[in-house]
Amino acid sequence: MKSYLTLLEANKNWAAETVKNDSTFFKNLENVQTPEYLWIGCSDSRVPPNEITGTKPGEIFIHRNIANMVVHTDLNMLSVLQYAVEVLKVKHIIVCGHYGCGGVKAAMTRKSLGLINKWLRNIKDVYRYHKTEIDSLKDEGSRVNKLIELNVVEQVTNLAKTSIVQKAWKDRQGPHLHGWVYGLNDGLIHPIFEMEAGSHFDELYEFDNL
Ligand code: CO
Repeated sequence: MKSYLTLLEANKNWAAETVKNDSTFFKNLENVQTPEYLWIGCSDSRVPPNEITGTKPGEIFIHRNIANMVVHTDLNMLSVLQYAVEVLKVKHIIVCGHYGCGGVKAAMTRKSLGLINKWLRNIKDVYRYHKTEIDSLKDEGSRVNKLIELNVVEQVTNLAKTSIVQKAWKDRQGPHLHGWVYGLNDGLIHPIFEMEAGSHFDELYEFDNL
């Protein structure tokens, strides 16, 4: 493992290299950010959003938490979402999970892990909704990966349930929502679910006075 000092050294090299390739790079980013994407991903260190999507500083607005959750009482996530949608006016929101996610694995067990139980409870709910389908799979890895996919779908629909997204859909026909799952074993992203702006899923959640 690297000493933290090597991180600072690498940063100096990166800044110098970046300026060498594009002398106005930092100047252009200094006063304005206009990312087209909001990324909601897992905190897992093996899934760095910019690196795996070939994007640079300024291109993706990022929120990460354990198991890429969209929890409606999470003030942090809601603040990021509101700013991204209403101020930055992002065109796309990507919820990106990853196969082998430890958060999802932990949520499938009955082990108490302290405070994090409360966060993982949200994933247990997704498991409960799809228990028959998931439990019909033979090996444990497939069951975990199935819940990882279903969890991404659930979090995308959780975005669509917010008044923030619904209001934007009404006002500017955006952003489009995407559910992706990243493979730790091959570095590839699998798109598994889409919700175009204005999609309908269950009228119970659709506000008619926005
Ligand atoms: Co994870």
